[in-house]
Amino acid sequence: MPFDPENFIEQSIEDIRKKLGDEHAITAVSGGVDSFVAAALASKAVPGQVHIVYVDNGLMRKGETGKVMKAAESVGIGLKVINAKKRFLDALEGVTDPEKKRKIIGETFVRVFEEEAKKDRVGFLIQGTIAPDWIESGGMGRDTIKSHHNVGGLPEKMDLKLCEPLRELYKHEVREVGKALGLPESIYQRQPFPGPGLAVRIVGEITEEKLDIIKEACNIVETEIGHAVAEEKMEMPWQYFAALLPSKTVGVRGDERSYQYTVVIRAVRSLDGMTANFSHIPPEVLGRMSTRITNEIRTVGRVLYDITNKPPGTIEME
Ligand code: XMP
Repeated sequence: MPFDPENFIEQSIEDIRKKLGDEHAITAVSGGVDSFVAAALASKAVPGQVHIVYVDNGLMRKGETGKVMKAAESVGIGLKVINAKKRFLDALEGVTDPEKKRKIIGETFVRVFEEEAKKDRVGFLIQGTIAPDWIESGGMGRDTIKSHHNVGGLPEKMDLKLCEPLRELYKHEVREVGKALGLPESIYQRQPFPGPGLAVRIVGEITEEKLDIIKEACNIVETEIGHAVAEEKMEMPWQYFAALLPSKTVGVRGDERSYQYTVVIRAVRSLDGMTANFSHIPPEVLGRMSTRITNEIRTVGRVLYDITNKPPGTIEME
């Protein structure tokens, strides 16, 4: 039977009401599609009982906070912004292992939510977890591919009870629900963005310097691919971004030797994120991105193009 978003919304509203009873819930939007749809669904189900927050963890894309605020405003969602950048970056300092990074981020999110929840007698955490998040996080005989921050990255002990209305859905179904809920296209068609943010696009240790690099590089890739799609030079990828490698390489700037960071361009076609093929970006578009990245980010000396499918790769680098 084809997925019916209207039916899903009706059923889901009933389930959320039943689950929460009189209790209040906290939910966070991250700028991604899933969290936004979950928050919109929750506000429809239990309007007076849901507290919606946006945690600025310092791992968001360039200009993201402003974009999220604007989108929320456009659909009448009131957001509380929590600035937790220092807390996240302190917790991640010196950590290089990808699974440790994911667990630290998952736990820090939950502790921030719990502190917020105490102020408002909140019993539940509503999350935009979707099927690939828990499938890839492992358990029940499955291998852990990566601990998604909102599943395998959650701490063992939590004060809040979980409510996950999108748990059985895949991304394309979440988009249909977003559309049926009346969200703007700029939200429900937005490319996916991982909950742990740019942390999984910096391979190895996260520093402020690397965060600044990756924000600029992601912004250049998004802008240039956006232009190329508008000019019909290529089809819109499912997801497209830049990642930063921990290794520096040798180059020349002017007449001098350089030893600088390496940025990777990644763009994929996919339906649900479970498998993916690398997007075919025309050489002239790749060339423009490479020139812009090395000209505008003076600490980057080399740009690579990732031509790995999933499997054997994953979409994000960590
Ligand atoms: P991978 O890298 O596993 O990603 O091929 C599949 C899709 O999931 C996104 N992703 C995440 N989303 N929490 C999320 O909400 C996470 O921890 C997480 N890790 C990866 C990724 O961006 C891609 O769209």
